[in-house]
Amino acid sequence: MIAALDQPKIQAILTSLVEGVIIFDLDGQVIVANHIAERIFHTARGTLVGKTMQAISPNNGELVAMVDEAVSGGKETFAETMLGTHNQVYRVVVRPIKNDSGQMEGTVVVFHDITDIRNFAQVRSEFAGNVSHELRTPLTSIKGFVETLLDGAMANADTCRRFLTIIDTETDRLSRLIEDLLTLSSIESKEKLIQPVPVNLAHSIRTVINMLGPQISEKDLMVKFIYPPEMPLVHADEDLLGQVLINLLDNAIKYTPIRGVVTIRCRERESRIVITVTDTGVGIPEDSIPRVFERFYRVDKARTRSQGGTGLGLSIVKHIVESHGGQVFVKSEVGKGSTFGVCFLTV
Ligand SMILES: Nc1ncnc2c1ncn2[C@@H]1O[C@H](COP(=O)(O)OP(=O)(O)O)[C@@H](O)[C@H]1O
Ligand SMILES: [Mg+2]
Repeated sequence: MIAALDQPKIQAILTSLVEGVIIFDLDGQVIVANHIAERIFHTARGTLVGKTMQAISPNNGELVAMVDEAVSGGKETFAETMLGTHNQVYRVVVRPIKNDSGQMEGTVVVFHDITDIRNFAQVRSEFAGNVSHELRTPLTSIKGFVETLLDGAMANADTCRRFLTIIDTETDRLSRLIEDLLTLSSIESKEKLIQPVPVNLAHSIRTVINMLGPQISEKDLMVKFIYPPEMPLVHADEDLLGQVLINLLDNAIKYTPIRGVVTIRCRERESRIVITVTDTGVGIPEDSIPRVFERFYRVDKARTRSQGGTGLGLSIVKHIVESHGGQVFVKSEVGKGSTFGVCFLTV
């Protein structure tokens, strides 16, 4: 009989589990419950003992019925249910305990917290929805212009050129989106394999400034690069560090009107280098600031779309920086400009 078992020993075993466990006797009353189970039902130490499932959780009819079916019918069941005040989702398994000769000795109920798994699945499916939407928008536009051309608009050389230019722009957007999505998924799959090497940050920054040279001159921007005379090397995957710098500088350029100033500054702080990119651009409204690192978030969808943004850049930045053990931050004022900061560990 379970009741005869060494209770402290059972308790010790149950305490080491991450699942909530409650064991009922043949009458459906609790013999033992571990502290996770007590936490799920918000009760004090030892107070579940002697109670029935009905008394423990009167509002959860499903759970009460499951335990009843096990206690009186020897039936094994499982379900997913919400318990507790924080909307935690649990997978609950109710299983009769039988001895070697098949006689019922009691019932065990195990509560496995699957909230994170469920949330993750939801984030995934939202992401897939967003991706489909973002891909469909340029595709619909391309399809529309192609059809109009085939319907006869092709005959007019000016119209033809204008429509083809739009198609060209939309095709570029599609490839940028796909490139950003590939970057995101490659960081996700590489996350545990990132092998940081000592990188000369000043060199990486100069390379990126040169790469974006055409956009900088096109807007007649001034770019300043300020860094300490003896800057230590940083620990980073060089390609990914480059992605971070490109995205930050690209935004600073894109969201700053002509003849503005972009300042890239490196400072040494304890065992880190903090890199900030400050611009004199349009700035970000206060309520949007906490959201700019979200995937596909854009302050002004229409405007940024016309500038070819995918809304993935900063989420890529955050992902990369955090997978290197660093942090990101942002300060901004509408009409004055923004500062984006990231940090990397020094060697
Ligand atoms: N330097 C900046 N100045 C003003 N707004 C910015 C800046 N950087 C980012 N943002 C805002 O944050 C949004 C998300 O940035 P990001 O993820 O890089 O996407 P996007 O592809 O639109 O550049 C942008 O659409 C823009 O609204
Ligand atoms: Mg961007």
